[in-house]
Amino acid sequence: MRTITLNIDKTLGFISREQVFAREQKVKECITTLHNKTGKGNDFLGWLQLPSSVTEAEINDIQATADHLRAKCEVVVVVGIGGSYLGAKAVIDALSGTFDHLEPNRKDPLVVYAGHNIGEDYLYELSGFLKNKKFGIINISKSGTTTEPALAFRILKKQLEDTVGKAGAKDLIVAVTDKARGALRTLATKEGYKTFVIPDDVGGRFSVLTPVGLLPVAVAGIDIKQLLSGAVDMEKATGTDVTFENNIAAIYAATRNELYKTGKKMEILANFHPKLHYVSEWWKQLYGESEGKENKGIFTASVDFTTDLHSMGQWIQEGERTIFETVISVAQPNHQVEVPKDAEDLDGLNFLLGKRVDFVNKMAELGTQLAHVDGGVPNLRIELPELNAYYLGQLLYFFEKACGISGYILGVNPFDQPGVEAYKKNMFALLNKPGFEAESKAIQARI
Ligand code: PA5
Repeated sequence: MRTITLNIDKTLGFISREQVFAREQKVKECITTLHNKTGKGNDFLGWLQLPSSVTEAEINDIQATADHLRAKCEVVVVVGIGGSYLGAKAVIDALSGTFDHLEPNRKDPLVVYAGHNIGEDYLYELSGFLKNKKFGIINISKSGTTTEPALAFRILKKQLEDTVGKAGAKDLIVAVTDKARGALRTLATKEGYKTFVIPDDVGGRFSVLTPVGLLPVAVAGIDIKQLLSGAVDMEKATGTDVTFENNIAAIYAATRNELYKTGKKMEILANFHPKLHYVSEWWKQLYGESEGKENKGIFTASVDFTTDLHSMGQWIQEGERTIFETVISVAQPNHQVEVPKDAEDLDGLNFLLGKRVDFVNKMAELGTQLAHVDGGVPNLRIELPELNAYYLGQLLYFFEKACGISGYILGVNPFDQPGVEAYKKNMFALLNKPGFEAESKAIQARI
């Protein structure tokens, strides 16, 4: 099996290999705690064995539903926020052609998103875009009560029903939610929608390999079996029987925590492949929401290189020395473009004649790594042999596993997000939501 790799050599000098390996016992304990389900948040560990436990029947049901939407829709709107849309967007963006959405004769439905903001202009423009198009909706919410997706769904549901009638809309709406609880479950049952269940023991940001991620990804025409197969292999490669030095999730978790201990409070995930932008967004949520609590946790940020070398590059090179960088690199691009001949060489690029664009990119990567290390930024490097569903499946599971371990090293519950409630409580109070009368009164005195 070819696998994604992790290289921590360029963190050495900031921390030592001995320091990383000194954490071996602690990391082993964390892995055992995860697998034995004896730690904090232990009722949210369903993601651990998810890749190997998903059944053929479940995959076929997801694929059949996706095929139904693919056959009927030009556009499918994925409604969801946070963990209920970022994983799907990460995979779809990484594995779709960059300009496919602009192709008038595209073969796959266009997947667009709603419910991940409260933008009135966004919803107005989306409604306008969907007018006269055959569209369907995948409404995703584990709690089934999140305001952003509920609001967007109400508007889009009305538009769809006004266009194709209630029965027609029912055929084009799929709900992914809790098996019994929440307004979305009630609504889906009442309306008779096709539904998928998000398992009780899988939290939003760990749900990309449930129907939350798999259904939209299948709608986009991506091979979900390959995605799962990569995740299954990474599940094995990071299992309890794998030694510390061979377990890349263990090494990543140990290294980032060691760096954190030495004052490196921020981790910047950098990619050298523009299609990975949303993988970074997904990763930011995964680690930020899992670890940022009890006044602890590495702040997660991300950049797209080389693009952001011309914006954030200065800060990374010479700003406050509290950062480390984790680079995702793809060894082999899927296509070849060579620098063409130009007899006049007015742009002075003939020294690159016949070279692949990727060669230039790789030299930019190497040059950046050396410069940033010289500038005091420890560098971890993750390499994918290629950007395809299989290796992406490996990457997603790798990050999830390392996140669980890392959160336990830090001593927090990586599987809850109590801090997210604070803004909701204030917003509901300000909106005079029934049940928030006391908060409404209290908040009026503060504004
Ligand atoms: O990771 C999480 O649990 C959150 O980011 C949720 O995914 C997000 O808040 C959306 O919640 P829900 O799916 O309940 O609408």
